[in-house]
Amino acid sequence: METREAIENRRSIRIFQPRKVHKDLIAKIIDSARWAPSSGNIQNWQFLIVEDKGRKLQISEAALGQTFIALSPVNIIVCVDNANMEMYYGKRGTDMYSYQNSAAAIQNMLLTAHSLGLGSCWVGAFDEDALKRILKIPDDIVPVAIISVGYPSEQPPTPSRRNLDVLIYSEEWGKT
Ligand SMILES: Cc1cc2nc3c(=O)[nH]c(=O)nc-3n(C[C@H](O)[C@H](O)[C@H](O)COP(=O)(O)O)c2cc1C
Repeated sequence: METREAIENRRSIRIFQPRKVHKDLIAKIIDSARWAPSSGNIQNWQFLIVEDKGRKLQISEAALGQTFIALSPVNIIVCVDNANMEMYYGKRGTDMYSYQNSAAAIQNMLLTAHSLGLGSCWVGAFDEDALKRILKIPDDIVPVAIISVGYPSEQPPTPSRRNLDVLIYSEEWGKT
């Protein structure tokens, strides 16, 4: 699949077929995250795969009742480790690079899932403390996203995007 095609045609999928996703495909998705750029190549990400029914239900409750999480075959929890970020980059590292690194990794995952014929949804709305308790995530690790993955059972319409001309300034802020 061509890069541009994958970028434009990927959609957030929230309705999945009950079909299981083979672990090799999950591995491919996570493998693509490894190749994302990261500040100083620090790669401060960690991935937690959750397929257990009861645990998925708990996660969906922690995610403000977003039920599709419990109904998706697999959820990948993306976490960041801020220990070295603090040491190398101080506040800018923990407050910005850390999340930028994980966002780049997540986008790779979404595009790879799409290119494999899978659907996915990036979920950011959840109670962080509740999620940490459910998954026994240690204090110094921050869960930043839940990625629900499965074979799509919907074809959502393409959500609009802001036009290019309102996004770009030239040479100076506000100058078109
Ligand atoms: C940081 C972030 C948090 C998001 N959180 C949620 C979420 O909690 N629940 C959800 O259903 N979708 C969530 N989304 C998906 C967006 O709603 C979706 O990307 C957006 O509506 C555009 O649709 P598209 O992904 O199909 O292009 C999130 C996306 C991002 C980038």
